[in-house]
Amino acid sequence: MSDLVEIRDLHISYETARGIVYALDGVDLTVYPSQILGIVGESGSGKSTLGMAIGRLLPSNSHRTSGDLFVNGQSIFDIGDEEIRLLRQESLGFVFQNPISTLDPTMRVGRQIRLVLNGPASDDSVYELLGRVGLPDVKRVARSYPYQLSGGMAQRVVIAMAISRHPSLLIADEPTASLDASVREQILKLLLSVREETGVAIVLLSHELGLVAKYCDTIAVMYGGRLVETGSNVSVFRRPGHPYTKALLEAAPGNERPGDWLEAIPGVPPVLQSSAQGCVFEPRCKFAHETCRTVRPVLRPIENRMVACHRAEEVLKIEPTAAATHGRIA
Ligand SMILES: Nc1ncnc2c1ncn2[C@@H]1O[C@H](COP(=O)(O)OP(=O)(O)OP(=O)(O)O)[C@@H](O)[C@H]1O
Ligand SMILES: [Mg+2]
Repeated sequence: MSDLVEIRDLHISYETARGIVYALDGVDLTVYPSQILGIVGESGSGKSTLGMAIGRLLPSNSHRTSGDLFVNGQSIFDIGDEEIRLLRQESLGFVFQNPISTLDPTMRVGRQIRLVLNGPASDDSVYELLGRVGLPDVKRVARSYPYQLSGGMAQRVVIAMAISRHPSLLIADEPTASLDASVREQILKLLLSVREETGVAIVLLSHELGLVAKYCDTIAVMYGGRLVETGSNVSVFRRPGHPYTKALLEAAPGNERPGDWLEAIPGVPPVLQSSAQGCVFEPRCKFAHETCRTVRPVLRPIENRMVACHRAEEVLKIEPTAAATHGRIA
């Protein structure tokens, strides 16, 4: 399979009033056509930075220190502004957390859709697109301003706009975080059906483990700007090989047996002001030993996944969590 996105040893930092923040600290990742890749990790782990980097949408205080990122074999850092605009328009679609703020509040939905369709679009093509994302009464929706729509309807409109140019990749950054639980499921089901219909690949960035476990075929776990484990949903979530993946699963609601306590991950995720010499999870890890503090673990293949952990063999020997065994992640 040819690669849609190929990320190689990517380092991205931000300049802030309090100094440099190392948001991506050497990330290697490949996205294949039609894949649904879920990227999980606590707040600050670098998910959004990674998602925005794919479209070269990073803010001006960001800086690529080293590494590269290819979309359809083309380095997005090497191409000019016009080429990146075309790439975004023709190959990439973005869906963000807050649909209402993604849409232009001063313009009716139909007009906004016509603009992204880019060219003389008929009313029928606007209605057809709104119908494809499951919106009822498409004429009324097209006549509405964004504030007249519910959050779920607005997110459907955003998805309609994102898929209007038949992209090969959709980047969905917490697309359901501002929506009710029942609407969340509907939006993810919609993304899944769009994938089935069009073959678009989806990168879903989320801290909601349950949703990612339910809808993604491949999982990448991020911590402290690094990728710590990646592999198929079944390999990674049924039997985690990284202590951080294991800790995330144990802390996720829905994983407990009746009467059990959820196991919180001790400590807080780091804001990286320097690149850790060893494993970035070491200060919070119950498996850590001396080497973890001094030697950076690299992603290596072990039991059907890639793990960046010196102790992965020991972690894999431990009984899978109850949730993982029963597939009960909420
Ligand atoms: N525009 C910015 N300027 C300065 N620092 C930033 C900026 N955006 C992100 N960061 C920092 O970069 C690190 C990674 O942030 P990022 O938003 O990529 O993480 P995330 O995994 O998406 O988190 P969340 O789950 O909260 O969305 C964090 O330490 C964050 O504070
Ligand atoms: Mg984010």
